[in-house]
Amino acid sequence: MVAPAIPRLTDPQLYSHGDPHATWARLRGDCPVSWHDEPDHEPFWAVTTYAEGLPVLSDYNRFSSAQGTFLRPNLSAPYPGAGVMMTLADPPRHDVLRKVAATLFTPKAVAGFRDRAQLVSRSLLDRVIDAGTHDFVNDVSGPYPLQVIAGLLGVAGDDVERVAGFAGSAVDNIVDLDGTRAQEAHLEVLAYYADVIEERRLRPTDDVVSAFVRAQAAGVDITDDEIILTCDNLAVAAGETTRQVLGNGLLALLDNPAELAALRTGAVTQRSAVEELVRWTTPVSHLMRTAVADTLVGDVEIKAGQAVSVWLASLNRDESVFERPMELQLNRSPNRHVSFGGGRHFCIGAPLARVMIGVFLEELLSSVARIERAGEPQRKPSYVTNSLETMPMAFHSH
Ligand code: HEM
Repeated sequence: MVAPAIPRLTDPQLYSHGDPHATWARLRGDCPVSWHDEPDHEPFWAVTTYAEGLPVLSDYNRFSSAQGTFLRPNLSAPYPGAGVMMTLADPPRHDVLRKVAATLFTPKAVAGFRDRAQLVSRSLLDRVIDAGTHDFVNDVSGPYPLQVIAGLLGVAGDDVERVAGFAGSAVDNIVDLDGTRAQEAHLEVLAYYADVIEERRLRPTDDVVSAFVRAQAAGVDITDDEIILTCDNLAVAAGETTRQVLGNGLLALLDNPAELAALRTGAVTQRSAVEELVRWTTPVSHLMRTAVADTLVGDVEIKAGQAVSVWLASLNRDESVFERPMELQLNRSPNRHVSFGGGRHFCIGAPLARVMIGVFLEELLSSVARIERAGEPQRKPSYVTNSLETMPMAFHSH
């Protein structure tokens, strides 16, 4: 019998104009742990099933985050922030940084963001309701998360746009062949936060910079570079993901009018709707780890140093875990999606993301009576995030 051909996963067209879910479904069925030696890309493993993928994310002793957590063409080249930034560090270093960052995400702190999320949602929606066609990505979902958490990041006023710009270019350029533009974006962030650190040493607030500066003063071994990279990490992690749930989630609700109606009437709870929209949209398409030693994934032998990508978007549609995974079911229960990852690096901002998404939906549905598509959305050709480039919409109050 001839082995089935392995489909390409790094083709940008697949994500801008194709159907990646069909490709991932083929891989789940034919070859859950597959080797990809594709044009213009260093080779890597792809894991597409839940049973094989989750252990890769959870077992940091076998699979390290310190060489990068997303695929990129030049995998063997050094990556900015590797081993230093929280998300790119393994325990025990990771534990030190995570413990400090966790102080910002207590249930009380997260609940405190509700009012701010409401205020920002209302002000962004006010500008586009009954105002003709707008671009939901640029006008609403893009600015929303960073405006909500600007205070947490230690960013004030006009600087929100600047930091949002750094975050955007950092993500766009993750797959940049020589990494130059990504590094430039990082340098701008470094310069920006270097000033904020000095300021917070003198006048601490309740933001992330102050939390790290305080920990540093109390003897925790953290350098200024680590503080800066962690701030950068938060801006990218929060901004580029939450917006995708809003955009892609809204499109999914429009494609499923009965589900949208159930949400409007309260027939499904907001809590379960948020979870299903996060599963459905899977903002981070894959995560990468590097094998520390020769090991097995499922029954496939992996060599030390090889890149192993876990396709969260595929795990979230795994037929052996989710009943009718290709259907949007806002009341899905249980819903053990992996959109927030798994193991030690599980998204630290997940509770905050849930609040932001829930509040936004509440405000949208209470102020917009009719939601109209005003053109075809454009997708980014990205294998890292499930991203919309533009999404023309019209919101009507009656
Ligand atoms: C729907 C929205 C979000 C999604 C889908 C998401 C997804 C993820 C995923 C998949 C990871 C795991 C990375 C890995 O294992 O390598 C992660 C980690 C992280 N997320 Fe989120 N995220 C979201 C929102 C947020 C928000 C709002 C914040 C902060 C305010 C945030 C901050 C972080 C940080 C700092 C990490 C690194 C944690 C660590 O390395 O220990 N995320 N996120």
